[in-house]
Order: sequence, then structure tokens, then C-alpha cells
Amino acid sequence: MSSLIAEKFILLLCKSLAITGLLLYVLSTLLFNQPFDLFPPSTHKFSASNPLSNAPTNITHLVFGIAGSVNTWIHKKPYVETWWQPNITRGYLFLDRAPPEDFLPWPSSLPPFQVSQDTSKFEVYSKHVMPLVIRIARMVLETFREENEGVRWYVMGDDDTIFFVDNLVEVLARYDHTKYFYVGANSECVKSNFDHSFDMAFGGAGYALSYPLAAALATNLDGCINKYPYLYVSDQILQSCLADLGVSLTQEKGFHQIDLHNDISGLLSAHPESPLISLHHLDAVDPIFPSMNRHQSINHLMKATRADHSRVLQQTICYHKQSNWSFSISWGYSAHIYESIFPRSILRKPLETFTPWKKTRSPSYMFNTRFLSNDPCEAPHVFLFDSIENTTKDHIVMSYIRTWPRGLPVCELNGNHSADSISKIQVISSRKHGEGERRRECCDVVPVVTKNVTEVKFRTCMKIEE
Ligand SMILES: *[C@@H]1O[C@H](CO)[C@@H](O)[C@H](O)[C@H]1NC(C)=O
Ligand SMILES: *[C@@H]1O[C@H](CO)[C@@H](O)[C@H](O)[C@H]1NC(C)=O
Ligand SMILES: *[C@@H]1O[C@H](CO)[C@@H](O)[C@H](O)[C@H]1NC(C)=O
Ligand SMILES: *[C@@H]1O[C@H](CO)[C@@H](O)[C@H](O)[C@H]1NC(C)=O
Ligand SMILES: *[C@@H]1O[C@H](CO)[C@@H](O)[C@H](O)[C@H]1NC(C)=O
Ligand SMILES: *[C@@H]1O[C@H](CO)[C@@H](O)[C@H](O)[C@H]1NC(C)=O
Repeated sequence: MSSLIAEKFILLLCKSLAITGLLLYVLSTLLFNQPFDLFPPSTHKFSASNPLSNAPTNITHLVFGIAGSVNTWIHKKPYVETWWQPNITRGYLFLDRAPPEDFLPWPSSLPPFQVSQDTSKFEVYSKHVMPLVIRIARMVLETFREENEGVRWYVMGDDDTIFFVDNLVEVLARYDHTKYFYVGANSECVKSNFDHSFDMAFGGAGYALSYPLAAALATNLDGCINKYPYLYVSDQILQSCLADLGVSLTQEKGFHQIDLHNDISGLLSAHPESPLISLHHLDAVDPIFPSMNRHQSINHLMKATRADHSRVLQQTICYHKQSNWSFSISWGYSAHIYESIFPRSILRKPLETFTPWKKTRSPSYMFNTRFLSNDPCEAPHVFLFDSIENTTKDHIVMSYIRTWPRGLPVCELNGNHSADSISKIQVISSRKHGEGERRRECCDVVPVVTKNVTEVKFRTCMKIEE
């Protein structure tokens, strides 16, 4: 600004000040005292006097931002379709360019798309080590600008993130959305976390930012991107910005980045006692049901999820003492029979059926595992969720079918009781009535001798029970 223009400007400013001093005062208060109120000043004032702020969090309070690209959308679309509820879930798919004509008209069954703002003219673009990640890092900002009425949580994910939305809502409802919260999970692999940050939510697993945190971030984000031009992962740019705001990651064990390869059945059969929130990288692993393709597999798991979202993948363990067998059920996914009595402390460790994202020196994983074994006393008989049967108002009956013969002799040490003849396990669980009923469950085993079927009945645990 030349001094002449500056003088004129100040003169003008003084004049207007005289006339609209009050207005300017109000404006400056808004601008400088409450910078986070710039965006919709009327919608996010949560206070004790506002009864809506205390109403339980539901699906309408969440807004999703999904990172996608035109080139890969055809392959990722079926994943989004598994969880997106048209006209119910709120949010946008962010594409790198306008979709070609054959994608149009855009179906209302899919999340509406937005073309991400062009960042190639930004000064930082040319000096950034990985300029393409700027677009992804800014997604939270663009989602925030697009949608902010009645929002409590911004949930970011990839186009190959599968969300279990009802569980996500239940988990987020436990946090105070009027405070700063960054909720997600890091990678299964030590190396991935070491390379980026142990305190970083991996975006493929998805993560949630409370409204005020997203608002704060929105005002800071471009500055942050300028500050970290050497960070080549958008999640790490975001994590650095949040760390600079004094916010660290709140880990929730239900988010799954799946930085793994091959068979993840070991992990899915021993999920931590925490609601399943997301699965990612399903293209990088074997189909989770080997008799189906990847998309059929995830839709199959969704069948169980619709029957009871809070139980899906929750592990329940029980014993048949007369045979010295242990049963481990991962609800809606798998049932294992061991010809030995193994305590819960052992069975809760995932069988290492999978391999890490990248080969490294051990330890590879952020959790303990059990090695696969050919010892007939240690290797389980594996059954996978097949169908939901005879479901009534009070009960859900599910069948789990043996996937293949175990191919091992009987475990002689524990009384020579072979489970080879069992071809099906039927799991009977009572329907839960009322929200938020989340308790560890126990079960009883009832062999149906003549039919090669074993029934497992779920029940509430007694006070002291393994
Ligand atoms: C969600 O909560 C709001 C209150 O914040 C309420 O008005 C709305 O009806 C609820 N929606 C559903 C689907 O429960
Ligand atoms: C969503 O709502 C719009 C407007 O009410 C309606 O036209 C459309 O059919 C709905 N889409 C789906 C998939 O339900
Ligand atoms: C389910 O119902 C069918 C017929 O109604 C019956 O034959 C079958 O035994 C039932 N199964 C269970 C597990 O109750
Ligand atoms: C269970 O296994 C133990 C050895 O681990 C054995 O002593 C016991 O007799 C077995 N019980 C039955 C009912 O087979
Ligand atoms: C275990 O059972 C098999 C037949 O099922 C039998 O051949 C074997 O001798 C038995 N072993 C012991 C130690 O009883
Ligand atoms: C059922 O179990 C018996 C032994 O208990 C076995 O002889 C028979 O082959 C089994 N049938 C099937 C269909 O697996």
C-alpha cells in the first residue's frame, strides 16, 4: 500500500468509524475475540441453557468427508454403498476433478460429490514434497464450510473406508462434542506409526473431530499446510496442526486402518472389547469370507451388522468341559473350536494369520499375537458366519459353517475328543432391548449329538466367570 492510499484509507476509516463505530466494534469483537465464531454464529452455541446440546448424539449430528478420485471411483463405489444411508447420512465425496459425463446424473443413493478446491495456484504447492496431499489435508476445511448446521462431529475417511455408522454414533456420543476432541486410531503396524506419528489418526481408518475443533482447524489449516511443506502424508499435516493447537489423539480401538496383508481372519476373530467402527484396505487383504469376493464379503458382514450392530465382531468365549473344548465366537463373523481349555487371556490375542504392511524387524504389531500352530491341541476348527435363521422378536439365531476340514488328528492329551464331526455351530443370542446395553456376554455350549450341530447360547455373565 502506498502511503498516499494508506492515508486516504485511514481518513476513510476514521469517517466510517464516526458513523458506524458501534458496528465496527461488534465486528472486531467477532473477529478478534472469538475467531472460531466466524462460521455460522447461530448454530454451535452449546450451553447448558440450550436443551438441544444435551440431547443424545445421533446420526444427524455427524458429517462425513470422503476422500476420493475420479479415476478410482468405479472400484471404490461399492465400498461406500455398503454403509452410506441415502438421505440419512450427511456428507460429501471429494473428487479431484469434475466427474465425466457417464457418471452423471449423480445418483441420490450415493454421497453428493464436491470437486475439491484447486490448490495448484497456492504458493505452497510448488515447494511441497507431495503437493497432491494438500487437497486431502484441506478436506476437513471444505467439509466444514459446506455443512455446519447442527453438526457435532466431522468424520473424515477414504473412499475405501467402511464405516459402521451406528457404532460410531454410539462411541462419539460418549464424548463432549462442545470440547476439542480428535478421535481415531493409529496403525496396527509399529513401523507405520514410527514413520509418521504414534499420535496420528490414520485417515483410512477414519477419524472424528468435534465441531469446535474443526472450526479452530478451519481458521488455521492453510497456515499449517504452509508450515509443514515437508510432510508427505495429509494425516500427519493434520496431526501436526492439532498438536500445535494442544490437542492429542483420543484412541478408539474400533477404528481399523488394516495396514496388513493376506488373511485378516485372526484379527477379526479377536476384536478388542470395543464397538467395531471401521475397516479399511479391504482391497489389500484376502476377502474376509473366502468363498466370496471382497464386495460380497463386506455385504455379508453387514447382514450381521444390521441384525445387531453393537455385537458385530465382539468376542465371546465359552467351554464344553465334557469334551475339553473351548469356543470362541466373533459375533457375525467366525466361530472357533479348540480341543483344549484355553483361558480368555490367551484366546483374546489374535492368531497371526496376517502379515504386516511392510516387512520389518519385529515387533511388527501394536498388539500381541499368537502364532499359527499345527499342534492339534492348539489349532482351532474354523467356522464362518453363514446365515441368520429363525430370528424372532426375542432371539437372533445365526449359523456358522465349517469352512474346511481341519486336516489334523485329534488332540489326544485332553481326552481324545475330536470336533471333526461338527459341521455347523448355531449361535443363539437374545435381542437387546434398549439402547446402550453393552455388557460382556458369556455363553453355554449345547451339543446336538445326532445332527453334527453344536448350539451356543449367549447369556449375561455371572459375577465371577472366566
Ligand atoms: C437427533 O437429535 C436431534 C436433537 O439434537 C433431534 O431433533 C432429532 O430428531 C434426532 N434425530 C434422530 C434421527 O434421532
Ligand atoms: C432422497 O430424497 C430425495 C428428495 O426427497 C428423493 O428424491 C430421493 O429419491 C431420495 N433418495 C433415496 C435413495 O432414497
Ligand atoms: C427353524 O425353523 C424351522 C422350521 O420352522 C425348523 O425346522 C428348525 O428346526 C428351526 N431351527 C431352529 C434353530 O430353531
Ligand atoms: C481334559 O483334559 C485333561 C488333561 O488336560 C484330562 O486329564 C481330563 O481327563 C480331560 N477331561 C475329559 C472329560 O476328557
Ligand atoms: C483316540 O481316538 C482314536 C479314534 O478316534 C483312536 O484311534 C486312538 O487310539 C485314541 N487315542 C487314545 C490315546 O485314546
Ligand atoms: C456326523 O457325525 C458322525 C459322528 O459323530 C459322523 O460319523 C458323520 O459322518 C457326521 N456327519 C456329517 C454330515 O458330518
